[in-house]
Amino acid sequence: MGTPRLVIGFLLLVVCCLFTRGPATNNKKAITNPRFNMSTEAERKIQKQVFGRTTDGTPVDLYTLTNAHGLEAKVMTYGGIVLSLNVPDRTGKFDDVVLGFDRLDEYLKNASYFGALIGRYANRIAKGKFALDGREYRLAQNDGENHLHGGVKGFHRVVWRAQIVRGKNGAGLNLTYLSKDGEEGYPGNLFVSVTYTLTTTDELRIDYSATTDKATIVNLTHHSYFNLAGAGAGDILAHEVTINADRFTPVDKTLIPTGEQRNVKRTPMDFTQPTAIGARIGEQDEQLLVGKGYDHNWVLNKSGASLSFAARVYEPRSGRVMDVHTTEPGLQFYSGNFLDGSIRGKQGKVYYLRYGFCLEAQHFPDSPNKMNFPSVVLHTGRKYTQTTIYKFSTR
Ligand code: BGC
Repeated sequence: MGTPRLVIGFLLLVVCCLFTRGPATNNKKAITNPRFNMSTEAERKIQKQVFGRTTDGTPVDLYTLTNAHGLEAKVMTYGGIVLSLNVPDRTGKFDDVVLGFDRLDEYLKNASYFGALIGRYANRIAKGKFALDGREYRLAQNDGENHLHGGVKGFHRVVWRAQIVRGKNGAGLNLTYLSKDGEEGYPGNLFVSVTYTLTTTDELRIDYSATTDKATIVNLTHHSYFNLAGAGAGDILAHEVTINADRFTPVDKTLIPTGEQRNVKRTPMDFTQPTAIGARIGEQDEQLLVGKGYDHNWVLNKSGASLSFAARVYEPRSGRVMDVHTTEPGLQFYSGNFLDGSIRGKQGKVYYLRYGFCLEAQHFPDSPNKMNFPSVVLHTGRKYTQTTIYKFSTR
C-alpha cells in the first residue's frame, strides 16, 4: 500500500521540479529559492571541497567552476578570493593566469589582496575619514595616513556564505556577507551579494549588489593580479593594454586624487591605442614617479552606468586576450609596483616586480571627499549594483 503512494509522491515531486525550474531570469530568485534554481548543470560544473580553517576556526570551502570549453576558476569563501583561473593560449594550452597561493595559511598571512573581493570601499580614502549627513566617520588608516581597500579586515579577510546558483550564462557561485553597522568604521548594516559566473562564452562575470539600513558609502571591486603568460612566468611589461578612457585622475604623493580629471593625450597614461605596459613605464613622468609605475584611476569614456567596454589586454607570446567590460565609471590600472620578489606563490614561483597587473573596475578613489566625482553614497531602500566581466579569447 505504502510503496505505490511513495512512488506516486516521488513522481509528482519530479514533475513539479521540472515545471518550476525553467531558466533563471535573475540571480535574486536563485538566491532566495535555491532548491528550484540550482540547476543540475550548475551542480555538475561546480565542485565544492573543504579548504581549511581560519585562525579562529571558521571553515573555508573551495569551489571549482568549469565551463564547456574547459576553462576553470577556483574560488574560496575566505575573501571571495579567486585562487586560480585556467584559460587556453592560442595553441589550446591551458595556464593559470592569476597570482596566488596553493594553501589557505599563505592567504591568511599575506596582505597583497591577491584575487580578493574588496569592500566596503575599494581604493583609498584620504586620511581615513569622510562626512555623511552631517556626521564624520573615521576609518582605519592602513596605508600611511590613508584608508585602503576597506580597512584591516575589509571584505578580503572575512568568510563569505556560499551557494551554487545558475548565473548569467553558466554555473555561478553566489557569495553573501552581512557587514554590521560600524564594522571598520562604516555606518549601516550592509548586506552584500556577489555572484561569480564562468560563462559559456569564456567570461569570468562578477555581479555585485548591496543594500543598507542606514545611509553609507559603497565601492566594491575585484583584485586579481593577472599575468596572461601564466602566473610566475615573468613580468607583464610586454602585455599590450588598451583603456577606453580619454582622462585619468592624477594623484598626490600619497596616491589620493587631486580632484582633476586630466586628458591622457601626450602623456604615458594614453592607452587609447594598444600600448605595451613597458613602453613608457620608466619615463621620468611625475605621475609615474609617484605611483612607482601605473597605479591610477582612468575615467572611462561612457555616460551612465551601462555595461560597456573598459579595457583590452593582449599578451603576444601566448596570444591570450582579456577584455574588460563594466558598469563602473572608473578603472584602476595597477602594474604590480609593490611586488618585490618577497612573495613565493603557487608552485613555489616567486613574484618579482611587475609580475602581475590589476584592472579594478570601481568608482574613483576618495570619492566620498570629492564632490565633483560620481557619488558612492547608498541610501536605504536603494540597491547598489555593479557588473564587471573579464572575457578571455586568443588571437
Ligand atoms: C592599489 C595599490 C595597492 C594595491 C595593493 C591597488 O588596488 O591601487 O596602490 O598597492 O592595490 O594590492
